[in-house]
Amino acid sequence: MNPGPPSSTERLSPAARIDALRAEIARLDHHYYVLDQPLLPDAEYDRLYSELLALEAAHPDLITPDSPSQRVAGAPAPAFAAVVHDHAMRSLNNAFTNEAVLAFDRRCREALGADTLAYLAEPKFDGVAVSLLFEEGRFVRGATRGDGTQGEDITANLRTIRSIPLRLNGSDHPRRIEIRGEVLMFRADFERLNASQLEHGLKPFMNPRNAAAGSLRQLDASVTAKRPLRFFVYGVGDDDALPELATQSALIERLAHWGFPAARERAVVSGPDGLAAYYTRMATMRPGLPFAIDGVVFKVNARALQRELGYVARAPRYAIAYKFAPEEDITRLLDIEVQVGRTGALTPVARLEPVRVGGVTVTNATLHNEDEIRRKGLLIGDWVIVRRAGDVIPEVFAPLPERRRGDERAFVMPGFCPVCGSRVERAAGLAIARCTGGLYCPAQRKQATLHFASRRAMDIEGLGDKLVDQLVDRGHVQTVADLYRLTAATLAGLERMGDKSAARLLAAIDRARRRPLDRFIFALGIPQVGEATARDLAHQFGRIEALMAADAEVLQQIPDVGPAVAASIVNFFAEPHNRDVIAQLHAAGVRGEAPPARAGGHLSGKSFVLTGTLAHHGRAEAGALIQAAGGKISNTVSAKTDYLVAGEEPGTKLAKAKSLGVTVIGENELLEMLRKEADG
Ligand code: IVH
Repeated sequence: MNPGPPSSTERLSPAARIDALRAEIARLDHHYYVLDQPLLPDAEYDRLYSELLALEAAHPDLITPDSPSQRVAGAPAPAFAAVVHDHAMRSLNNAFTNEAVLAFDRRCREALGADTLAYLAEPKFDGVAVSLLFEEGRFVRGATRGDGTQGEDITANLRTIRSIPLRLNGSDHPRRIEIRGEVLMFRADFERLNASQLEHGLKPFMNPRNAAAGSLRQLDASVTAKRPLRFFVYGVGDDDALPELATQSALIERLAHWGFPAARERAVVSGPDGLAAYYTRMATMRPGLPFAIDGVVFKVNARALQRELGYVARAPRYAIAYKFAPEEDITRLLDIEVQVGRTGALTPVARLEPVRVGGVTVTNATLHNEDEIRRKGLLIGDWVIVRRAGDVIPEVFAPLPERRRGDERAFVMPGFCPVCGSRVERAAGLAIARCTGGLYCPAQRKQATLHFASRRAMDIEGLGDKLVDQLVDRGHVQTVADLYRLTAATLAGLERMGDKSAARLLAAIDRARRRPLDRFIFALGIPQVGEATARDLAHQFGRIEALMAADAEVLQQIPDVGPAVAASIVNFFAEPHNRDVIAQLHAAGVRGEAPPARAGGHLSGKSFVLTGTLAHHGRAEAGALIQAAGGKISNTVSAKTDYLVAGEEPGTKLAKAKSLGVTVIGENELLEMLRKEADG
């Protein structure tokens, strides 16, 4: 097979050399595009390819359509011709629940009188169905599904896809056979394509499937050739083809042997447990797969039984698609409302006509800020695509401008706070608009109160948003200090508040007088001071008064406290209102308990950052051990970091630590250090 070095041309006729080169290039393409196992360096491949081009240029009479050089040839087509499929391209019935799949299995078993049935299970590729006609082992025509009977001739475009063989391997193929499968784009290729679309001022594609469909429908195949498309095979058009192959799995093996890529994830399964386990396995693998899938497909494996079951209407009785909850759908953007956060940030929120995506009903989605709305080109009243991938929060992805009717309107950020009427300010260069009302603004007061009471702050059990709404709206709570002045009599006047719940709440508030200083600092809601910084501040200053007296320079001595955080802390305590609240809290007996002394330990003064999954301890737990030993925990790697503790699958922090020369240790080394600490 190997055509050998270029010098062998001398010994072969041009025709024989061309044949050898074509076979070798097809073999290399197969390994590269189908098996993902390149055999030669690109440069060597390019040499063989150039030699073929040169020989074909010298002997144009020897050019055949199945030459790798002919993947892109000819002028753009004026339109796609119609193609009548030899065999109809059917679709699959869908199931959305395990029960529906079990019912399918039961129907098949009952119709066949079988106790158990084996199924070929495959991913359901989220791409574009195509039919590829091969005659005498050569790719002669490719078509879209169209209406199932008649599709469009996209042969020229399909020829550009390297994972589609132009000529089949082996010799055991029927004279004429329709191959069925899916054209798709890998997600990484899609991201790159979209980045390049944007760079060239072109419209990005919605998703990999749209990108694949759009690329296949190019009249100029040289455009398609530039698009990173792939093909995966899942069957043949004629159920009676290749009768010697008894099972669907053997059929796929044969197609793979001829040179078509088939899903590696396929498996033969049986019984209710087998079907359910495959679905779960693929649902788990889904985020890590290079391509998008929208479910799994089960096909009765025995082809004789498939024929016996046959078809109802347009779908086979012997197969079913078990679909994942859709991660994307369209709905109406009914309105854009503005929410006011704890720090006064005004966040536009999309109010949506309820839509199910990723298994949950979505009615709201944050739009982040004004610029984001403009960038996406959203108008109130638009039809929009809503997306929710994995556990990610739902996102309004894009509008469908073609559905506009003319009564849609643009969103305008209000000039005054919708809650308190104070002026809204948007600092130059910043994306966030803020209410200037501060704690005069009930929305900010509510959020500040909820934050103060939250589990990781003062942990006041039972103080939820409904209650805080009432307390603030009725004027019982102006500042968080008022919480400690609440009485059973005040609470009795609130909705849905019995004597017992009132007593429980008062007890919870009382318990929350004595929280450690770090939680108290965090609970104050100083902008840019999260839990980690609050802990550092508590350990550094020991008393709230000391922190209040610190200037920016002193604050910046603390790891992770830069100029912006320092300024935010200084500004917070400079505000007379805030000092007043703290004084009132003091009077109510709330001051933040001093943290245990941690001087002197091995790890004293050392700063640690944790990344990745630790085998023996959760990150929070490991962090607590380090702190107990006197060390400091921070979230970001900087030149001040002493150690990065890296677990399994570390994040970008590892690269950053390496680039800064920070010492990287594993969990075992950390435990070793802690042990020394305990011994010493
Ligand atoms: S078998 C007779 N297997 O799903 C039905 N289809 O709703 C033949 N699809 O148009 C289809 N992955 O585009 C089959 N592993 C797979 C598939 C698959 C994706 C698509 C295909 C078809 C649609 C049916």
